[in-house]
Amino acid sequence: MTESTKKPVIFSGMQPSGALTLGSFLGALKNWVALSEEYDCYYCIVDLHAITTRQEPADLRRRCLEQIAQYIACGLDPAKNTLFIQSHVPAHSELGWILNCYTMFGELSRMTQFKDKSARNTDNINAGLFTYPALMAADILLYQANLVPVGDDQRQHVELARDIATRFNGVHGDVFTIPEAFIPKTTEGARVMSLADPTRKMSKSEPTGGCVYLMDKPETILKSFKRAVTDSDAEVRYDIKEKPGVSNLMSIYSSTTGKSFETIEAEFAGQGYGAFKEAVGESVIERFRPIREQAEALLQDKTYLTQVYTEAANHAAYTANKTLRKVQKKLGFVAK
Ligand code: TYM
Repeated sequence: MTESTKKPVIFSGMQPSGALTLGSFLGALKNWVALSEEYDCYYCIVDLHAITTRQEPADLRRRCLEQIAQYIACGLDPAKNTLFIQSHVPAHSELGWILNCYTMFGELSRMTQFKDKSARNTDNINAGLFTYPALMAADILLYQANLVPVGDDQRQHVELARDIATRFNGVHGDVFTIPEAFIPKTTEGARVMSLADPTRKMSKSEPTGGCVYLMDKPETILKSFKRAVTDSDAEVRYDIKEKPGVSNLMSIYSSTTGKSFETIEAEFAGQGYGAFKEAVGESVIERFRPIREQAEALLQDKTYLTQVYTEAANHAAYTANKTLRKVQKKLGFVAK
């Protein structure tokens, strides 16, 4: 590909710290697929990030494979997208360390994800959990990414990656492309909330019982939606402050069906919540069904999945090492 035909670059990643959820799908994966034709895309399984909280080795290994299968099943063609595992490209760890030295203690202390996770894991507030955003900056900057499609909860980390890149460039000249976050509108799943507690984010690593997984069977999905916490006034109306549960369900339904809030309000006027919850559940079931079926089929072919992530790691390493070498030279490291 010549310079003039080069596509802009996307980098994004997901932690294999749990099975992918409706939140991961609406907040990020859906956009990864939508943007994949126009961009040169690197989609990563960030296992180095996942070990900032304790993982069962066998589960971590299995989830990495499942995640590759799910990326493909969602519509990411491995021939056109680089679908790889972070630890297979050592440049991530190397640049991560370097960027630690360009990231301020105060900046890391302000990260809401660190504050939340350290409050919930008081027995394991490790240094990796604290410096996590510097590694995330390395992920993005290694590929000179222009765009980073993520959910709203990652906005602060992408902002910090921009600040780190700007600081490094300020000292050493133009080394890094300054990335932009690409975040869905609130109505399109920027922050999908737990079905059990709609004031909390739906999170794969902290299942509150309100999580819907991409690989859930239809009956499990339906049950989760039937149990979803709403309110007592039985009116399907969008009001994020007064009716967070119903508003969350409306955002989900709008994202899976493309219907506007007005249409949804009219569709369920005077019907109470039973029919509404069932309809939302059915829409998610239909959206997920082909993905789950294809992912299950792909998981039967380990040789193919291995080939996908091995070739992708080689390609990713080639690009990443170019940036890493440039950085090392700027820093004054002696060439090998
Ligand atoms: P992670 O693994 O927590 O989530 C993966 C992606 O899914 C989005 N997401 C959500 N969006 C809306 N509502 C939700 N309930 C929800 N839950 C998850 C996340 O915003 C994310 O886009 N730090 C990242 C992984 C990462 C990364 C990167 C992302 C590491 N390096 C570089 C982009 C670029 C994370 O923990 O995502």
